[in-house]
Amino acid sequence: MQNVSGKKIILGISGGIAAYKTASFVRLLIKAGAQVQVIMSPASCAFITPLTLATLSKRPVYTEFEKSFGEWTNHVDLALWADAMIIAPATANTLAKMANGLCDNLLLATYLSAKCPVFFAPAMDLDMFIHPSTKSNIQKLVSYGNIEIETAFGELASGLIGQGRMAEPEFMLNVLNEYFSKNSSNDLKGKQVVITAGPTYEPIDPVRFIGNHSTGKMGFDIANEAANRGANVVLITGPTSLKTNNSQIKVQKILSANDMYQACHDVFESADIVIGAAAIADYRPKTVATQKIKKNDEEFTIVLEKNPDILASLGAIKTHQFLVGFALETENEIEYAKSKLKKKNLDLIVLNSLNDKGAGFGKPTNKVTFIDKDFNIFPQELKSKEDVAKDIIDQILKNYAK
Ligand code: CTP
Repeated sequence: MQNVSGKKIILGISGGIAAYKTASFVRLLIKAGAQVQVIMSPASCAFITPLTLATLSKRPVYTEFEKSFGEWTNHVDLALWADAMIIAPATANTLAKMANGLCDNLLLATYLSAKCPVFFAPAMDLDMFIHPSTKSNIQKLVSYGNIEIETAFGELASGLIGQGRMAEPEFMLNVLNEYFSKNSSNDLKGKQVVITAGPTYEPIDPVRFIGNHSTGKMGFDIANEAANRGANVVLITGPTSLKTNNSQIKVQKILSANDMYQACHDVFESADIVIGAAAIADYRPKTVATQKIKKNDEEFTIVLEKNPDILASLGAIKTHQFLVGFALETENEIEYAKSKLKKKNLDLIVLNSLNDKGAGFGKPTNKVTFIDKDFNIFPQELKSKEDVAKDIIDQILKNYAK
């Protein structure tokens, strides 16, 4: 597996002839399992079309501050989303603007907002490259912590031979792979992590079911994070449209709470950590009609019976496993969460309060509070679900070490 797998990369393209090489660079990144968001400077669109790059990256390409009339492209959100940004080709003009804080296009505004590492691959003609102002701009950018991907020696578009060619796509991919390999914490290496996600569907008849609004996003984000940190991950998920971004994750799809119960128990013995992020139906129809139920009566009653509590059943038999549950509450949040922690014999509980803005089903963000076995309480800020997933793994590791 390549180290860029699962990473979110912004590729910023500025207006030089080497822009044509970004098509194969995007292909390489996508093949390696990265998510790629392309942002083009207006000048670069003369060298390669946004349509080519959108097709290869499987995402819309951004070129302007305004996506469509009245819809703004949020460069701050883009910059926060990325694990790394790479500007390739970085022309003399774009380098000069970056070095001096100019931001007259979306690419530069995103660069200025970036909190992630920024790589840049200069590309220009020899005389421009050796000009003292270009040299000093590159030095300035490196002194700000940006990482230069050095130019190659060879034939340039002008016919001159010398330094100034943009590094080859394969080389740039290697640089990113190396960076992520050095910086990946791998702190879950060798650990077996089981995660449940999504809703369950409890059948009523062959065409109907009782379900809920869970999208599975929180569980999928935890699975991606755990796998990216070296864990062997089994993701047991109810119906969802989501896909994992790490090919090493073993995904097991189930429908009902009973299916999920069985799947969890099948893998429990070999698990080190189990995280129950699924929204499991507490009840299921007592009888499931074999044929579609007809609307003959004015009223219709479905008798429900209790589903097994999966986490509680695992808590009752756990030996070495570290068990993490979620609690979704609307009132007396801390007290209810503490009692769930105790009742289910958990090691950690992640409390979601529906009273917090931005938390809950279908939202890209979440605001959680961790409560550990000793009832220590750790409230967290409102964050993207990806960042909450990082915090959950960090918190598990802190408690696990004890
Ligand atoms: N859970 C479970 N099995 C169930 C129901 C819930 O394993 N049948 C897990 C969930 O995955 C979650 C935790 O238990 O990690 C708490 O779920 P929640 O819906 O908040 O609580 P419940 O235990 O169902 O209690 P209640 O609905 O009464 O609040």
